[in-house]
Amino acid sequence: MATVTTKTGQVVDRMVLDSMLRRRLFYTPSFEIYGGVSGLYDYGPPGCAVLNNIVDLWRKHFVLEEDMLEVDCTMLTPHEILKTSGHVEKFADWMCKDPKTGEIFRADHLVEEVLETRLKGDKEARGQKVVVDEEKEAKKKKKSKEAKAVKLDDAVVKEYEEILAQIDNYDGPALEKIITKFDIRNPATDGNLLPPVAFNLMFQTSIGPSSNMPGYLRPETAQGQFLNFQKLLEFNQQSMPFASASIGKSFRNEISPRAGLLRVREFLMAEIEHYVDPESGKKHTRFEEIKDMELSLLPREVQLSGSTKTVSMTIGKAVETGMVDNETLGYFIARIQAFLLRLGVNPKKLRFRQHMANEMAHYAADCWDAELETSYGWIECVGCADRSAYDLTVHKNKTGAPLVVREPRAEPLKVEEWQIDLDKKKFGPRFKKDGKTVEAAIEALSQDFREKLALDLEKQGKIEVDVAGVGSGKVELDKDLIQIEKRTRVENVREYTPNVIEPSFGIGRILYSLMEHVYWSREGDEARGVLSFPPVIAPTKVLIVPLSSNPAFRPLSQHLMMKLRRMGVSNRVDDSSASIGKRYARNDELGTPFGITVDFQSVKDNTFTLRDRDSTKQVRASEDEIAQALKSLVDGEETWEDIRQRLPEFTGQEID
Ligand code: ATP
Ligand code: GLY
Repeated sequence: MATVTTKTGQVVDRMVLDSMLRRRLFYTPSFEIYGGVSGLYDYGPPGCAVLNNIVDLWRKHFVLEEDMLEVDCTMLTPHEILKTSGHVEKFADWMCKDPKTGEIFRADHLVEEVLETRLKGDKEARGQKVVVDEEKEAKKKKKSKEAKAVKLDDAVVKEYEEILAQIDNYDGPALEKIITKFDIRNPATDGNLLPPVAFNLMFQTSIGPSSNMPGYLRPETAQGQFLNFQKLLEFNQQSMPFASASIGKSFRNEISPRAGLLRVREFLMAEIEHYVDPESGKKHTRFEEIKDMELSLLPREVQLSGSTKTVSMTIGKAVETGMVDNETLGYFIARIQAFLLRLGVNPKKLRFRQHMANEMAHYAADCWDAELETSYGWIECVGCADRSAYDLTVHKNKTGAPLVVREPRAEPLKVEEWQIDLDKKKFGPRFKKDGKTVEAAIEALSQDFREKLALDLEKQGKIEVDVAGVGSGKVELDKDLIQIEKRTRVENVREYTPNVIEPSFGIGRILYSLMEHVYWSREGDEARGVLSFPPVIAPTKVLIVPLSSNPAFRPLSQHLMMKLRRMGVSNRVDDSSASIGKRYARNDELGTPFGITVDFQSVKDNTFTLRDRDSTKQVRASEDEIAQALKSLVDGEETWEDIRQRLPEFTGQEID
């Protein structure tokens, strides 16, 4: 049984949570009545509301707080762009095929699954307690040797643990060696597998009717941001550093998605590209504000030593000691943590894991993932990469567009250099149609080579230069045609390609992990789940419940509903005939944090009770006081404890 350990320490079957989320229409498999397609899901009303609230908070926490420039770029991307960015060649995972059954496995996930199963079997054989994943076990019922309790040699156990600690570090050939060495096969049939091959994750398409513009659905929002860099810099009045941001769907043709909302083929991404001067040491002006934030870090070296033990350290210390490469990367890591905690993530189930060298994307220089612990293990929910100048450079080289920053220098820079003068009047008639090619080859000569050529020219009166494709491939130039002199050039403007620090958020992964973190059930009733979303994230903030169907309550409920809506506090009236307890239980499952009861006292004196979902405690106060309390609870200005301190407690009805 795959289990979720709730915030109150209960161990609950994941199926219970999952069926609740589907029943309450947080999400549902797409095209279900046609049998569904793995890796594709639809969100229902509460799911959409929480997603929107997460995105809303993301905008406030990052875009507004840092004055980022938000863009919304197209998802359709021509081939040439993703070829230039390296995605066509390198955006791939390794997959293995079972030639007999046709089944396809993601190679690293298969190795992980099989080794973990064998380690469990070893523990069982040694008589140690094992937390069994029944769901996985059920799938493995017909399984061969993998499901058995077999004791392993101590050395093999150590080797397996070391492999698992750095599973993300292996490429295809390395995975092939592991598969061969440890005789890893199709767990269901025991059949041998073909060696891993790279599978590109991008969905291919064709833009326009003529099929002569191949393209892809974008695998990240980042490229659209990079291609607009020049315009954004101008919009920002040439001022550096700055960040662009984007929220939108991305698409990846995942090899065998089996982890619900965590690994899907279409997902909402929120990405920031922060452009920074590489010569600034990547300092960040607001680093002071976050430097004392304590983080749980899993650095590269620890993983390579075969361990997954985290170190607790302030981000200030992590940057000072060089564990985290620079202040800007550190700043965003800390801000990501602050964001996740505001959403209600359990701090004990959050860690930042550094990528190992082979694991890093082709463009990255350093990368830390914010991982959240779930019943599926530790899951990357936010990637925070230093992409250096990679993307802007490749697009600049390909198109010639000046994706650079030009800044006036405070002090002009004097550069001593060997400069070349060509006598254009003689040069043109001499080389005719090859003139441009020869000139370009001369312009490209390095400073060292120019110095040598200057000496040769002085001594011999002529020089030879390699020019591919012209004559014999060598061109002779004499003193009449060319002069090479050392001169001083004064640079008043500095030109550089910025480096990019990129926090990249998968909103669906965050949402699912968060739901596991805030889920629990009332004592003695496992089936009665509660989602303790913080008010800011909850799909609906208030449930208004008339005590009964007495018509006297209706105008009050309607009035409250409209009043709260006008204040921006989302709410629903539930005037169904179910008992108050049942109505609240339904809304516990939807994560509604507050409830207002309309009763006979309300009709008399316009006072109402306000109930807190988590504690089920209530206060009673006037309409205005209750409305104001709700507004400040939802805006995060006050907590329930604050409200309880200042409004009188109500203990009348038993409605938990
Ligand atoms: P993984 O190793 O789990 O496949 P990744 O390293 O490919 O993830 P990134 O390329 O860093 O992930 O993508 C950035 C973010 O996008 C991730 O942190 C994650 O939140 C989200 N993401 C990536 N792939 C998926 C997916 N298939 N389904 C849902 N979210 C995803
Ligand atoms: N843009 C981050 C990623 O796709 O990994």
